Amino acid sequence: MNSSRRPLIAGNWKMFHGGASGVELAEACAALAKELRTVDIVIAPPFTALAAAAHSADGTPLGIAGQNMHARDSGAFTGEISAPMLAESGCTFVILGHSERRQYFGETSESVAEKTIAALKHGLRPIVCVGGTLAEREAGKVQATLEAQLTPVLEALEDVGPAQTRVVIAYEPVWAIGTGKNAGPAEAEEAHAFIRKQLVAASPALESLRILYGGSLKPDNAASLFGCANVDGGLIGGASLDVSSFSAIARAAVAQVGN
Ligand code: PGA
Repeated sequence: MNSSRRPLIAGNWKMFHGGASGVELAEACAALAKELRTVDIVIAPPFTALAAAAHSADGTPLGIAGQNMHARDSGAFTGEISAPMLAESGCTFVILGHSERRQYFGETSESVAEKTIAALKHGLRPIVCVGGTLAEREAGKVQATLEAQLTPVLEALEDVGPAQTRVVIAYEPVWAIGTGKNAGPAEAEEAHAFIRKQLVAASPALESLRILYGGSLKPDNAASLFGCANVDGGLIGGASLDVSSFSAIARAAVAQVGN
């Protein structure tokens, strides 16, 4: 981590904890966010639990994120949710372009770019996910994949002005998500440093963007990953579903920066 960027620890609940168990977990995360003053803590519950989670977060620094959204403000798009709707539900962040959205729901880097602009327009902080597959890694194409995924987003950000610094990037190698295999610190740092280089090349102001690591981030590997200069936090799936593992990861970030 680097003291110039405030760490961000985000829990991606995916399609878990939609009801009473979600409220319980959100309350525990709100207490955690209150305690840990030097890191931003964010949770991304399923849509049906957003308003209740926002209620639990009320009066605490806990941030609430949507897991996806549509690029338009409203319209005949059955099953979709817009940025203003997320904001009305109490969200201040939104995850965009998660690899599961790209793999199962046809999300493209162009649609992610469009959604990024829409999210910023409505005051949300987009967490833009990038990362390649195992085949791309084995073919030595990690950087080419990252560049292809980032370029449409960075081009779209050119016209945005100072709000562009509200973007967060999450590097999530697809082969590490939910598999128990994580990128080692050296491999993660190489990818993060490459992403930072792309950001700065697009605009020097983007050097301040936080780049999160995601993919089997757990209490036992958090310290070594957070020790990397260009890793500014984590996007956590499985280990965010339980407050003790989520809190252990958040505390590993605090150990880097002090509380
Ligand atoms: P994981 O998921 O921590 O369960 O690997 C990360 C993510 O998909 O955001």
